[in-house]
Amino acid sequence: MTAKQIIDTYISFFQKRGHRQIGNSPLVPENDPTTLFTSSGMQPLIPYLLGEPHPAGSRLVNAQNCFRAVDIEEVGDNRHSTFFRMLGNWSLGDYFKSQEIPWLFELLTEGFGLPKEKLYVTVFNGFKNIERDNDSYGIWSELVSKDRIFFAGVDKNWWSRSGIPENMPVGEIGGPDTEVYYRFDDVEHKPQCKDNPVECECGKFLEIANSVFIQYQKTEQGFIELPQKNVDFGGGVERLLAAIEDRSDIFQTSLFTPIINSIEQESGKAYLKNKKEMRIIADHLTAAVFITNSGIKPSNKDQGYILRRLLRRSFDNFYLLKGENIRAVVEKIVDQYIPTDEYLKVNFEEIELTILEEEQNYGRTLQKAKSFIENKYEERLIDGVKKISAQDAFILYSTHGLSPTQIRSLGYVFDEQEFADKMEDHQKLSRTGAQQKFRGGLADHSDLTIMGHTATHLLHQALRSKFGEQLHQTGSNITSERIRFDFNFDRMLTPEEIKQIENTVNDKIGEDLPVHFEIMPLTKAKQIGAIGLFDEKYQQDVKVYFIGHPGEKFYSVEFCGGPHVNFTGQLKKFKIIKVENIGKGQKRIYAKVNDQI
Ligand code: ALA
Repeated sequence: MTAKQIIDTYISFFQKRGHRQIGNSPLVPENDPTTLFTSSGMQPLIPYLLGEPHPAGSRLVNAQNCFRAVDIEEVGDNRHSTFFRMLGNWSLGDYFKSQEIPWLFELLTEGFGLPKEKLYVTVFNGFKNIERDNDSYGIWSELVSKDRIFFAGVDKNWWSRSGIPENMPVGEIGGPDTEVYYRFDDVEHKPQCKDNPVECECGKFLEIANSVFIQYQKTEQGFIELPQKNVDFGGGVERLLAAIEDRSDIFQTSLFTPIINSIEQESGKAYLKNKKEMRIIADHLTAAVFITNSGIKPSNKDQGYILRRLLRRSFDNFYLLKGENIRAVVEKIVDQYIPTDEYLKVNFEEIELTILEEEQNYGRTLQKAKSFIENKYEERLIDGVKKISAQDAFILYSTHGLSPTQIRSLGYVFDEQEFADKMEDHQKLSRTGAQQKFRGGLADHSDLTIMGHTATHLLHQALRSKFGEQLHQTGSNITSERIRFDFNFDRMLTPEEIKQIENTVNDKIGEDLPVHFEIMPLTKAKQIGAIGLFDEKYQQDVKVYFIGHPGEKFYSVEFCGGPHVNFTGQLKKFKIIKVENIGKGQKRIYAKVNDQI
């Protein structure tokens, strides 16, 4: 089975069981400032897991491209990757454990042909007042031998975007999960491992499937039950492929082998002797291809920074192997993913150019770093013994953007412990910064963000009413602090025009217009002139929000997942803070509503 066949088998299995396929959301999410990347299939579905009706119904299925930056340091072993495709099926308050678990078992054993005796299961053991999941245990006991079912606590069998209950911010949703592992017979346990998936860490057991029962929300007082009990299933295509092909190393499956072969060819080195470096190159470059495809450029900020790190780590490892032409590897990656992600073909030149430009930039950075050290140390740098201070090594890292490995391969020697201490202090600081930045958590479904969504529709319409229907949204990003709205417009707005737009939105707030949604076929939504960004590919039914009195001409009709306020008056007031030119004929407006002002 190829990766594509796995995806197709999975989607049709769940379609036959009443699920509607939904689109693969952008890897760089719009309107979710809590995270830089889409890291699981459920992420774009949070409002619906919380109870908002989904236009495609209560049974959904898809394959979602995901990126997990937290796993960067893990890449290099036989199973971790930062980029992967997650198969997902959801019950939004529809079926629950007694349906999900037997279906999953049928899919794995009959759909994918995995031998039953190689499947191991873990089930939630309970936490505080949340009970041990005896229901899942009972259901699994009918399907697999009891000696292959294990209980585990919140560290293994609880899932939320932030991990264990303790780390979840107030507002975050999550719940107990049950996981399926595949056993590889060719992997020998390490002495400290026990022969079960809960206590083994050597990669003998590979997690291939995770059914999360999202039924709780964290509050200041502890967990409360959500109004509906949801199923959120996730299974990584790359790992399923490894199990189906019985390859304990995901980088030796039919998906990655051609990529690894191209690295071998470009470097003249063998994979079996350079596994770690080649795995990092294959994974990081693949992630970089997809992030670049989302329109991100390497930079020192947010997604651009992660992209830069991925690329520079790939270059470091490629040069360590004395690789010469990284372009050939990029081409092979794109070849391998085109069957499932056709658009890579269209965007190929842009992707390749971005990666090669960063390679040149990196070359210049390395030169500058070298000159900085050479000027500072002058003749004290005797060939062979290039001892520099830990402080200077740290400057190379923090200011020149070199990784510790790169500093060492430039041949510099420094006090590793002192350097590690400095790194730790630095990471502590940036963690605090990141926490503050992403603290929002589900604040993004807070009242102020919901208001921001409605204000965005009013702003969009106010701009179109004034400047014409050719004007449309090109992007938007809403936080609990402000809204940001991008649109196509050639010239700068005058101060009078800005004021007029602001006044129009405030007038509509003053009219206290009702806001409601309807779910309708895409064709009808288009007929009635609904505006906004939407994914046409999979959706037959779409959700359309109306602002205005039913029976009269609506002020705004726009495709949107919601949620929104019920009446525009709830926004109280609207203020444009800044208008800026963001290039390519586009302008950006920053604005605030209500208490944000
Ligand atoms: N959301 C769950 C996960 O990412 C399925 O593992």
